[in-house]
Amino acid sequence: MDFVDRCEPACRAWIAEAIRKVEADANRSADTHLHVFPLPPEWGIDLYLKDESVHPTGSLKHRLARSLFLYALSNGWIREGTTVIEASSGSTAVSEAYFARLLGLPFVAVMPKTTSPEKIALIEFQGGSCHFTDDGSQIYAEAQRLAAETGGHYMDQFTYAERATDWRANNNIAASIFEQLLLEPHPEPSWIVVSAGTGGTAATIGRYVRYRKMQAKLCVVDPEGSAFYDSWVRGDPSVTAAGSRIEGIGRPRVEPSFLPTVIDRMIRVPDAASIAAMRWTSEVSGRSVGGSTGTNVWGALQLIQEMRGRGERGSVVTLICDGGERYAHTYYDDAWLETRGIDIAPHLAALRETLLT
Ligand SMILES: Cc1ncc(COP(=O)(O)O)c(C=O)c1O
Repeated sequence: MDFVDRCEPACRAWIAEAIRKVEADANRSADTHLHVFPLPPEWGIDLYLKDESVHPTGSLKHRLARSLFLYALSNGWIREGTTVIEASSGSTAVSEAYFARLLGLPFVAVMPKTTSPEKIALIEFQGGSCHFTDDGSQIYAEAQRLAAETGGHYMDQFTYAERATDWRANNNIAASIFEQLLLEPHPEPSWIVVSAGTGGTAATIGRYVRYRKMQAKLCVVDPEGSAFYDSWVRGDPSVTAAGSRIEGIGRPRVEPSFLPTVIDRMIRVPDAASIAAMRWTSEVSGRSVGGSTGTNVWGALQLIQEMRGRGERGSVVTLICDGGERYAHTYYDDAWLETRGIDIAPHLAALRETLLT
């Protein structure tokens, strides 16, 4: 009788314990808040910000990192001693470094050298190490090369984000938003506005609203220099671009986790508008937010103005992706903006004017 037996009871026991640790970590955490953003009541439109900055590792990537670890552990891709390697613009790596440490695994982040020093410090604080490439388009091949060289596992968030997240479940970001809206005047929003890094958050929300038979529409906002917008407009997944200056969102290529068919509208957002909206959101809400949150809020306001123009009432939801402390030396630094020729003054003035009209 021929047979090959690959039973590894010790390895299975380690995986079971690792999954318990990840689930116990989630069990110790609370859900994130859905804040009301103060708009003039006479507009009849409510804007909500789902605050993903309050996760233990400070961004919406905490959810993704948890899902990616559970997916890789369940697939048998990660075992005791595996070096975990990730291509990231920073936030995912911070969260993955946290989970790698929880499981006692070495972690290496492969990132463009422009990544903010604050994010590098956070990865190192979580026990991860950082490896840099000259530009953002090189991170994928470099992560793959390092994984082959070390016998490690390349997590590959850009491929697996959309499938690692359980979009039907009651523990994802979409389910959480809709549950938190239940007692609001307009519990089914007219629009949900998100930006795309992997595209995973957009895929989860877009699928969920269809699955739950809702009419809420999904708008994806995309910064200058990203390939997603042109690709979506032209229906061409091979589009490439120079790369985005808004950390975490907008990609030089169309990522495999970007699901164009669940998106109802895309808006291209100038960087100066994203950064102005980031500062304005912090001013108005009293919460310091990051650059991609500015992109989100700018897009949400365009849709709100359109609804007002039609005399429509309703609600709009968007996300606080991470907090502003990660960008103190970049988007919150006027000298940094000036060196890059980014003039936020006209956008900031227009935003301040918005609430008065
Ligand atoms: C700060 C920040 N905002 C938004 C996003 C977009 O999330 P997703 O990867 O789900 O498209 C990312 C992703 O890296 C991010 O880092």
